[in-house]
Amino acid sequence: MRTAVLLLILLPPMVAQDLCKESKDGFKVRLSIKTALGDKAYEWNKSEMFLFQSTLAFAMRIHANRSNQETNYNIANILVCNDTQRVSFVFVVTSPDDPTQPIPKEQVERAVRLSKHRINNAFLLSDMTLEFVGIPPTLAAPIKYDTPPWLIVFGVVMGAVAVGIMALLMSTVSKRRRAKDKAAGFAEEDGGIVKENGTSLSSLKGKDGVYNQAFSSDERFTQL
Ligand SMILES: *[C@@H]1O[C@H](CO)[C@@H](O)[C@H](O)[C@H]1NC(C)=O
Ligand SMILES: *[C@@H]1O[C@H](CO)[C@@H](O)[C@H](O)[C@H]1NC(C)=O
Ligand SMILES: *[C@@H]1O[C@H](CO)[C@@H](O)[C@H](O)[C@H]1NC(C)=O
Repeated sequence: MRTAVLLLILLPPMVAQDLCKESKDGFKVRLSIKTALGDKAYEWNKSEMFLFQSTLAFAMRIHANRSNQETNYNIANILVCNDTQRVSFVFVVTSPDDPTQPIPKEQVERAVRLSKHRINNAFLLSDMTLEFVGIPPTLAAPIKYDTPPWLIVFGVVMGAVAVGIMALLMSTVSKRRRAKDKAAGFAEEDGGIVKENGTSLSSLKGKDGVYNQAFSSDERFTQL
């Protein structure tokens, strides 16, 4: 009789513990209070754990309200186990209607995502220092760009390429023009020399023959 009563008293917490340890719907939580707060780090104790349970119950309520479900979650529905000194622990959420029934992991994840900034703020931590293992910290609503970012990058790259091509073309054109001006100048000089000094014509031709050839072919090229 006495053992039966004892068993009856001991049974609920044992069931809760087992439910937490064996459930596939548990989430591991890791807190880096020292990293986040340094000298102002607080000690993780039962009161802090109570706050965590309340915050999670709150998150579950908020999420349940959004999905028009029962919102009467309490701290008794947040089971905690496997806690370690360097603060980490596992928690499982149970149904308010049936405390032996774990809430599916996906539902808990949605609730955590929905209220992550509130949970972070309760513990003065951030996504980096308050980690729900398996729930990526993409918690803020994604920023919607009018123009997708890849298009902006594409535009910038194409703009740079266009500027590069323009610069190349400009430099080629100006170089060619300079060469042409130079060639024209030489040609005039050439003519002048020829006119002024007919006797040296043969020797000049011999000297500048190669250059003149280049000039004439260049001009044909520009005409094309
Ligand atoms: C908790 O620890 C026990 C061993 O003490 C282990 O068997 C169990 O898988 C752990 N639970 C979770 C959810 O990690
Ligand atoms: C828990 O830790 C906080 C912050 O360090 C402290 O203020 C509070 O007194 C502690 N509570 C218990 C019950 O130890
Ligand atoms: C959710 O919250 C709104 C506004 O606070 C309330 O009117 C509504 O009854 C709640 N829904 C549930 C299912 O509790």
